[in-house]
Amino acid sequence: MQTKVWRVDPHSPDPSQIAEAAQAILAGQLVAFPTETVYGLGANAFNRDAVRRIFIAKGRPAQDPLIVHLASAALLPQVVRQIPPLAERLAALFWPGPLTLVLPKHPAIFDEITAALPTVAVRVPAHAVALELLRASGVPIVAPSANRFGHVSPTTAQHVLEDLEGVIEGVLDGGATTVGVESTVLDLTCSPPRLLRPGGVSLEALQAQIGEVLYTPRFTSAAEELAPQPSPGLLAKHYAPRAELWLFTGEREGVSGKMRQAAVELGKTGRRVGVLISEEQQGSFGDLAVEVYLLGSEKRLDDMAKRLYVGLRALDRQGVEVILAPEVVAEGLGLAIRDRLRRAATRVVE
Ligand code: TXA
Ligand code: MG
Repeated sequence: MQTKVWRVDPHSPDPSQIAEAAQAILAGQLVAFPTETVYGLGANAFNRDAVRRIFIAKGRPAQDPLIVHLASAALLPQVVRQIPPLAERLAALFWPGPLTLVLPKHPAIFDEITAALPTVAVRVPAHAVALELLRASGVPIVAPSANRFGHVSPTTAQHVLEDLEGVIEGVLDGGATTVGVESTVLDLTCSPPRLLRPGGVSLEALQAQIGEVLYTPRFTSAAEELAPQPSPGLLAKHYAPRAELWLFTGEREGVSGKMRQAAVELGKTGRRVGVLISEEQQGSFGDLAVEVYLLGSEKRLDDMAKRLYVGLRALDRQGVEVILAPEVVAEGLGLAIRDRLRRAATRVVE
């Protein structure tokens, strides 16, 4: 199939283009669209076949539930059985925005969406294109990140086409997304609430508003998944580039040294190396034959988050075989960057 591309202004998209995309959604087709975090692969939440096609298009396992997107918090009763006061408060504070709330699901929500869980994940995205599409189609839209399962999430329409061209009916091209990593997923069906995935709204911002939030990260990094397996290439990685990703942990002075040493050793074996680093680290690699992708200053975690997936895809395109990256501080958006790098890593160097 031919994938149609609608090029739209990210701030005020042309209503006729939005109307065409909305018609496609209502016809049960798959349309990718920009949100403030990453591009989503959209389908009408109330069309079971369309929802099923998302899993096929992405190669996504059925046990991985989808996020339902709404045009406004006022539509929550369509998808959620019961709205606790805390959900109302968080919606008022953070929507539209990169916060996904897990709540008891409405009986109208298909099992395919929630992987048969009694809960549903829902958010209102802060992007004019996403919101206009939601309004024009008049239905909730389920949308996972618009990448092949396990691959790096897309932050441009070009990234979407790299993974899904010919497999989906269309993409609304609204340029690069602004946050660059996915939404924060917060489970409100337990007390205190539990952070399931760090993302665009920081843990600190949530704690400042609602007090205690549980966060007990359990990484099955690709490295751990790979350990006992004879055939690493076949196993599921997440948020991962094609290249191997080696993640270096510990304090920064030591980290740059260890990364430099690894780059030199790998270079001797003839492997092409890329480094995904901060501006502050740049000096340590200037004289080496490595591809360098700068995430920006360590003082600007929002810039680093915005450039993370772009950087992983760029280094892949340059054909590097091993990407070396430092672990980022666990504060603000750094927590989300840290989470994604951990999950993408094929090796963690302590
Ligand atoms: O920023 C985002 O959230 C993007 C944009 C497109 O909105 N979407 C996104 O979707 O990242 P996806 O499918 O790549 O990630 C959805 C996450 C998964 O980690 C999934 O396990 C979790 O949300 N999730 C969905 N429903 C859930 C539920 N009922 N309970 C717990 N976790 C759930
Ligand atoms: Mg995803």
